[in-house]
Amino acid sequence: MEYISAREAADKWGISQRRVAVLCSENRIEKAARIGNMWVIPVDAEKPIDARSTRYAPIADKSAKPFLKWAGGKGQLIKEIEKYYPFNDGITKYAEPFVGGGAVLFDILNRYEIDEVYISDTNAELINTYRIIKENIDELIGLLMIYQSEYLPLDTEARKEYYINKRECFNELKVNGNEQTNIRKAALMIFLNKTCFNGLYRVNKKGLFNVPIGSYKNPLICDEDNLRAVSKKLQNVTIVCGDYKMAGDFIDENTFVYCDPPYRPLTETSSFTAYTESLFTDDEQIELAKFVDEMNKKGAKIVVSNSDPKNTNEEDEFFDNIYSKHKIKRVEATRMINSNSQGRGKIKELLISNF
Ligand SMILES: C[S@@+](CC[C@H](N)C(=O)[O-])C[C@H]1O[C@@H](n2cnc3c(N)ncnc32)[C@H](O)[C@@H]1O
Repeated sequence: MEYISAREAADKWGISQRRVAVLCSENRIEKAARIGNMWVIPVDAEKPIDARSTRYAPIADKSAKPFLKWAGGKGQLIKEIEKYYPFNDGITKYAEPFVGGGAVLFDILNRYEIDEVYISDTNAELINTYRIIKENIDELIGLLMIYQSEYLPLDTEARKEYYINKRECFNELKVNGNEQTNIRKAALMIFLNKTCFNGLYRVNKKGLFNVPIGSYKNPLICDEDNLRAVSKKLQNVTIVCGDYKMAGDFIDENTFVYCDPPYRPLTETSSFTAYTESLFTDDEQIELAKFVDEMNKKGAKIVVSNSDPKNTNEEDEFFDNIYSKHKIKRVEATRMINSNSQGRGKIKELLISNF
């Protein structure tokens, strides 16, 4: 998310900077944050309606949202995926074995009280961050506050140097870290995600994070409110670092399962699958389809999403074939087909379900 200063918001909305600060302190600008003695405001925030004479209802319990920008994030498909939520039909458990940034997870946790929740991912640094948010939220916020107050006042060159230094620390801990350094590693993971190019997570052949710095003017590195809301929601969630098949023991006839595996690349140049050290091949997509069949036999309710190969080749029946026993819905989404900006446009995504 990009931010502007209170001065810039004041100019944009035609009000005084002082009035912007008052609106921020009254919690009337969503996601506004205080850094030291100044306020920063999301670049797309709306000017609040002037209603100084009316009374405001107390802010409802804070909902949680993804704390990282993550490739393949499902934020914009939620409106379609939510149509499948079966929690009013006796379903009491939820499993999300390819959790990533967890857009669907948080949407579900904000809406329903679920008896048992299971999430997993093979990205060890991502899972470490979920665990630290769940178990060590105060220490994590303390570190992020420090990084934020050190980084934001720097000029471009000094920010670059700071970023490279933090990236080296992260890689050092990735290789030589231990239980004691996991909180720092999680804080560095969040810092890098908020300041790197496009919030990408990409590693080289040695497994070292190698994304360059991004150009966000005022990145919100420590979104304390959201991190605390996420921490609260994760208290009863089982968090596993490992392959999706490990969820098999958890899944039963009372479980809703949402699988969002790495996309099958739409073009040879697209690199959506580079989340971790390994790629997700066609053979693995086929393996996943077999796993879905097994979970179907157990009586679970399952939804799987993926890119639609028909976007680039009308004849490509890959998913229609491997999920031939299930229902396939094609929905519209906006995302990059390849790194060339002309590739951006409306494309179809697949939602596969067994109910
Ligand atoms: C498309 S992303 C999920 C995005 C997520 N739905 C969101 O909203 O951010 C796919 C995720 O699967 C993970 N992954 C890759 N192979 C896996 C495997 N064999 N088992 C579990 N997770 C895996 C990746 O690390 C990545 O985070």
